Amino acid sequence: MSEKKDTLETFDGAFNVQDMEQYVRKLGVIDWLGGSEEERTKERNVTALQRLLIRPRVLVRPVGKRDLTTSLLNGKITVSMPICFSPSAFQLYAHPEGEIGTAKACARVNALMTLSAWTNTPLEQVRKESACENMWMNVYLFKHGRAARLIRQAEAAGFKAIVITVDIPIFSRRRGSTFYRDIGKYYEAAHFPESDPLLKDLLASDPDATWNDFADLCKMTSLPVVAKGIMCAADARQALEHGASAIFVSNLGGRQMDGAPSTIEVLPEVVREVNGSCDVYVDGGFRSGMDVFKGLALGAKAVFLGRPAFYGLAYNGSLGVQKVLEIMSDQLSRTMALSGCAKLSDITPDRVMTASFL
Ligand SMILES: Cc1cc2nc3c(=O)[nH]c(=O)nc-3n(C[C@H](O)[C@H](O)[C@H](O)COP(=O)(O)O)c2cc1C
Repeated sequence: MSEKKDTLETFDGAFNVQDMEQYVRKLGVIDWLGGSEEERTKERNVTALQRLLIRPRVLVRPVGKRDLTTSLLNGKITVSMPICFSPSAFQLYAHPEGEIGTAKACARVNALMTLSAWTNTPLEQVRKESACENMWMNVYLFKHGRAARLIRQAEAAGFKAIVITVDIPIFSRRRGSTFYRDIGKYYEAAHFPESDPLLKDLLASDPDATWNDFADLCKMTSLPVVAKGIMCAADARQALEHGASAIFVSNLGGRQMDGAPSTIEVLPEVVREVNGSCDVYVDGGFRSGMDVFKGLALGAKAVFLGRPAFYGLAYNGSLGVQKVLEIMSDQLSRTMALSGCAKLSDITPDRVMTASFL
């Protein structure tokens, strides 16, 4: 892929995703990616991953060839790597290529993108212009039948699954939320235009929604439904009993309940509860292939990325997003070799340990 011409004197190329983040932070285009309140959960997602260590294993098996391909949702989808994009809103703010840029990057390397309900670009246009085959559509439990409407549109446009965000009964207080007040001035949410008289009523989910409303949406679609925003075994059980096909462990990147645990801390509890009956996915603070390895070792079928889509876009549009995927999949592949794994199923819980002295 072509390299970006750097515009900051101090910057000499992105070796990893942290470099890309630092670079775009200096450009000042990602001030609105903060967490809620004191940002403790946002930070904890990262520090908890750092406390987990990878156990090197040697001469266990040949590791010259590593296979990162995996299938999701009971074999319905095959992707080149267990690294996918979480739904993240308003991508045109990071780069003019926006959501289409992210989807094109996924199409080029056969990865998976989840399109936010708050996409700047209509879902039909993203699918058509990107030719991305592996796309899931995100909805919240919106009022006024709007979730059902979006699901119908996604079905018609060839999306492969629906991701229902269940952890936004109301919005938390977030840093950077002044940004949201300005939103309509520049770009609109494609499916929630400023002209919509109900807009104010549609911003978060219906705060009175329950699992029965979730079940109603599952019943109206033939697509698999992923429950995103699960942070404990009890809610995972509820989601499965009400029609979910997969569980997505997420705390919205520390943007909702500040003081919640990190996702990597609760992942084992959820994996135990689900007991192999469906895929479990996770996001929150994953920034390297080493982090992805830790998520897989603790039972996730795939690890998803939120903010890194914005880092990639702001860094170099669609090619920047591709670079995120390439860096992280290369890191994952090398981590596998250094820990005696040749395929993803070799990444077992014994490959990680908790730091005892941090
Ligand atoms: C700017 C921004 C917009 C987001 N928009 C959505 C959204 O529309 N729907 C959703 O379910 N999650 C949304 N998320 C949360 C992500 O899907 C994901 O759970 C989170 O960012 C993962 O953590 P990470 O950013 O540390 O990787 C958003 C996150 C950010 C930072």
